[in-house]
Amino acid sequence: MKYLGGFATTTLLSTVLFSITALAASADDWTKRSIYQLVTDRFALGNGSTPSCDTSKKKYCGGNWQGIISKLDYIQEMGFDAVWISPVVENVEGTPSDGDAYHGYWAQNINALNAHFGSSDDLKSLSKALHERGMYLMVDVVVNHLVAVPSNTSSVWPEPFDYSLLQPFGGSDSFHPQCFISDYNNQTDVEQCWLGDASLPLMDVDTENSTVVDILYDWIKDVVSEYNIDGLRVDTVKHVRQEFWPGFASNAGVYTVGEVYIGNVSYIAPYTRGLDSVLDYPTYFAVYDAFTNGPSGNMSSIADAVTQTQNQYNHGAFYVGSFVENQDNPRLQSTVSDQSIVKNFIIWPFINDGIPILYYGQEQGYQGGDDPANREALWLSGYNTDENSLFTLVKTLNSARKQAISYNQSFLTTQASFITQPSTSVLAISKPPLLTLLTNGGNSSSLTWNIPSSAGLYDANVMLVDVLTCETVTTASDGSLNVTSSNGSPKIFMPSQALNTSGTLCSKNGTDGSSTSPSKSTGSARALIQADVGILAAVTWLTLFVVVLGTMLV
Ligand SMILES: *[C@@H]1O[C@H](CO)[C@@H](O)[C@H](O)[C@H]1NC(C)=O
Ligand SMILES: *[C@@H]1O[C@H](CO)[C@@H](O)[C@H](O)[C@H]1NC(C)=O
Ligand SMILES: *[C@@H]1O[C@H](CO)[C@@H](O)[C@H](O)[C@H]1NC(C)=O
Ligand SMILES: *[C@@H]1O[C@H](CO)[C@@H](O)[C@H](O)[C@H]1NC(C)=O
Ligand SMILES: *[C@@H]1O[C@H](CO)[C@@H](O)[C@H](O)[C@H]1NC(C)=O
Ligand SMILES: *[C@@H]1O[C@H](CO)[C@@H](O)[C@H](O)[C@H]1NC(C)=O
Ligand SMILES: *[C@@H]1O[C@H](CO)[C@@H](O)[C@H](O)[C@H]1NC(C)=O
Ligand SMILES: *[C@@H]1O[C@H](CO)[C@@H](O)[C@H](O)[C@H]1NC(C)=O
Ligand SMILES: *[C@@H]1O[C@H](CO)[C@@H](O)[C@H](O)[C@H]1NC(C)=O
Ligand SMILES: *[C@@H]1O[C@H](CO)[C@@H](O)[C@H](O)[C@H]1NC(C)=O
Ligand SMILES: *[C@@H]1O[C@H](CO)[C@@H](O)[C@H](O)[C@H]1NC(C)=O
Repeated sequence: MKYLGGFATTTLLSTVLFSITALAASADDWTKRSIYQLVTDRFALGNGSTPSCDTSKKKYCGGNWQGIISKLDYIQEMGFDAVWISPVVENVEGTPSDGDAYHGYWAQNINALNAHFGSSDDLKSLSKALHERGMYLMVDVVVNHLVAVPSNTSSVWPEPFDYSLLQPFGGSDSFHPQCFISDYNNQTDVEQCWLGDASLPLMDVDTENSTVVDILYDWIKDVVSEYNIDGLRVDTVKHVRQEFWPGFASNAGVYTVGEVYIGNVSYIAPYTRGLDSVLDYPTYFAVYDAFTNGPSGNMSSIADAVTQTQNQYNHGAFYVGSFVENQDNPRLQSTVSDQSIVKNFIIWPFINDGIPILYYGQEQGYQGGDDPANREALWLSGYNTDENSLFTLVKTLNSARKQAISYNQSFLTTQASFITQPSTSVLAISKPPLLTLLTNGGNSSSLTWNIPSSAGLYDANVMLVDVLTCETVTTASDGSLNVTSSNGSPKIFMPSQALNTSGTLCSKNGTDGSSTSPSKSTGSARALIQADVGILAAVTWLTLFVVVLGTMLV
């Protein structure tokens, strides 16, 4: 497809479209998307320089919003159509023992931007650049706390802080009295005491005070509108009383996904009624445990966690942010080197009910452990897009999900189901038209998945294509299927008849036999659709031009 040829007109057309239809993006709009999460300071520099960046020093490394703009091709080529950036507001400066606030989670003045990342115009340019590509902008926000460096770490509330720095509040009466959280089983303690410690206290905003609440509601409304934001990732949600969130979400007016950092589905469920949804930590913990422990990990506990979320969250698991790595948890490759397990793991977010999120650097095989090691500078990878890289695998995963959605719209509203397997080292997930087979057996294993006819998935002699390899299998005369993994590799099957539309995914094996194999594919289905729109626009303009010219000549 003539992607580049159509690009200029695509841009022109979408500029026009988006300036007319700048509508707030709802949770339903987001379900069709997949999200690339990045730490602004560590993703790219606008001037293209690639300074060294020692994560253990916890210093700013130079990434900024112009840098993100300069690397949108890289993100879009992988098939992502939304970007979640780290917090944008002004943070505390100079915290010798804990390092710089390069991650953005130590807000000091929420009415100003973090100048390390650029100007207000730069952030607006990023928002505009994303929208011109038909992509969404998600911004990370924190309302639970603000941060000031205490002048005396052995003193107590409220003397050692300069409250005038903490904007828009500016006084101690907008904060809960100082006490550090000591009892996580006491919800009042969790909500009204402080995170952090004496050397860097995260000063807990008094979200019981209605004046404070109104200020925060007005603030989020303004920020979303000023920067044309399409979605919000909300930090430390369980540290603010539940009744605060519905008003926050309605003032935001866009999709909100909250961090409720705990593995207990029953605890989390009420928050899915205040915000649109949550980052799905319970499932994350099950997935991480299943893969980080190799073959002794229990993959059935993934099915268990997912079933609970489907039953207890508002809207099931359809609105959750589905992730396997992020800025707060060790990357899988900090403990696992077997690449077959790495591949099984990276697939998870793309084939279940939730909205897929990929944390930057996972596509480059980054191996950072706990914070701060897991916030590596991406420029040091050279933004590798090689055919045999995880980058290419992610591209295939995004294409597969887009193809599944376009083949069957019910994909977005039909819950994933699990087919009981003979061992806890394999998992079979059905979400038509996808059948995903995962294993933590490792590269020397050859385990078998059984899909019995009683699962009711297929008719007799249906040809299925593994979109990861383009190899095919055919169901037995009773519709059953047994598949054995080679070297612990995962499989994502689609019926061959589901593959013949977009031409990006194993289409040689599709029923019409045209177009390219996945390694030669030109990007996501969306990119191709956009290119088609671009070509259409070009034809329209050309026609207009000819008509006008014709009129002039006559
Ligand atoms: C590039 O930008 C960084 C961060 O703003 C700055 O420190 C560096 O000096 C710049 N390099 C060049 C070559 O302009
Ligand atoms: C810090 O606070 C402690 C406890 O209130 C006090 O004893 C000490 O003198 C203070 N130090 C300074 C330098 O103000
Ligand atoms: C509530 O917050 C406002 C504004 O921050 C402040 O002026 C007021 O004193 C606070 N009220 C109480 C009871 O703390
Ligand atoms: C729970 O925490 C609050 C705030 O720290 C405290 O006032 C209260 O006594 C605690 N309740 C119990 C039962 O410990
Ligand atoms: C999970 O959360 C629920 C609701 O808060 C609570 O009743 C239950 O005890 C928690 N379960 C565990 C194992 O902590
Ligand atoms: C694996 O997890 C499932 C679901 O949580 C549980 O029922 C089963 O007992 C576990 N099996 C092993 C071997 O731990
Ligand atoms: C399997 O993975 C291990 C651990 O990374 C590696 O040392 C080994 O070479 C791999 N074997 C094969 C056959 O790929
Ligand atoms: C794929 O091709 C078959 C046979 O030509 C056709 O019936 C089917 O509708 C096509 N699938 C899609 C999604 O267009
Ligand atoms: C689409 O998915 C739904 C729900 O899984 C299923 O009932 C329906 O048969 C599917 N349609 C096609 C054409 O595969
Ligand atoms: C599907 O395509 C792949 C790669 O092009 C090829 O290796 C495989 O043999 C094909 N399978 C069938 C049944 O056409
Ligand atoms: C699949 O494996 C099961 C269990 O081993 C066996 O009973 C069944 O006959 C196999 N089915 C096919 C089609 O090979």
